[in-house]
Amino acid sequence: MRPYSKSQVILHWVVALLVAAQILFHDSIKEAWHAFRKGQVVAFDPLVAAHVFGGIAILLLVLWRIAIRTRQGTVAPVAGTSPRMAQLTHLGHLALYAALALAALSGLATWFGGVAIAAEVHEWMEPAILILVGGHTAAALYHQFWLKDGLLRRMSLGG
Ligand code: HEM
Ligand code: HEM
Repeated sequence: MRPYSKSQVILHWVVALLVAAQILFHDSIKEAWHAFRKGQVVAFDPLVAAHVFGGIAILLLVLWRIAIRTRQGTVAPVAGTSPRMAQLTHLGHLALYAALALAALSGLATWFGGVAIAAEVHEWMEPAILILVGGHTAAALYHQFWLKDGLLRRMSLGG
């Protein structure tokens, strides 16, 4: 059975850190966007640039992860997983990829295209990502500490 490759593990944690940063440090871009909408001059702010480039990086890394997953095939579920649970996990992972891609694309359409509906979608992606990542993290911790099946090792470099 193929484990997650080294690049998949590194990409997983880099993307997780970038997503956390996007969510924690969004105040500057929000202010800049609202100032721009009111016709005010938007001064250069490194945190705004970081949000734009961080979001583009997430989109490219997600595409890279999907390419690896498609080329190498998905990793088999942890031993003892029922087919129904395996299907749910698979759907959960796809939903995470879709949510990240949609967040980045709606952000780009807002910032570069001025598309008002895209800003709405972008705002909605915050709770969507928090719920998906929250459920995903809870499931990972449940496996690790309740079922004690060593799931976290699958997503670690030593694994
Ligand atoms: C923004 C945060 C996160 C995102 C977007 C995310 C996304 C994903 C995705 C898409 C996969 C499937 C990989 C694939 O097969 O292509 C995955 C796997 C995994 N993630 Fe996360 N993850 C995040 C945070 C976390 C955290 C905080 C933990 C641990 C507490 C974690 C633990 C795992 C583990 C153990 C796997 C492998 C699951 C398995 O083997 O079935 N992830 N993650
Ligand atoms: C996966 C990547 C991204 C995540 C997780 C993310 C996350 C966020 C969050 C949480 C907010 C605050 C939402 C609110 O409370 O109103 C926000 C606002 C914003 N982001 Fe992103 N973002 C991402 C990518 C991008 C990209 C690539 C761009 C532009 C190139 C962008 C442009 C914006 C803009 C213009 C706002 C202000 C929108 C508003 O307040 O209506 N984002 N982002």
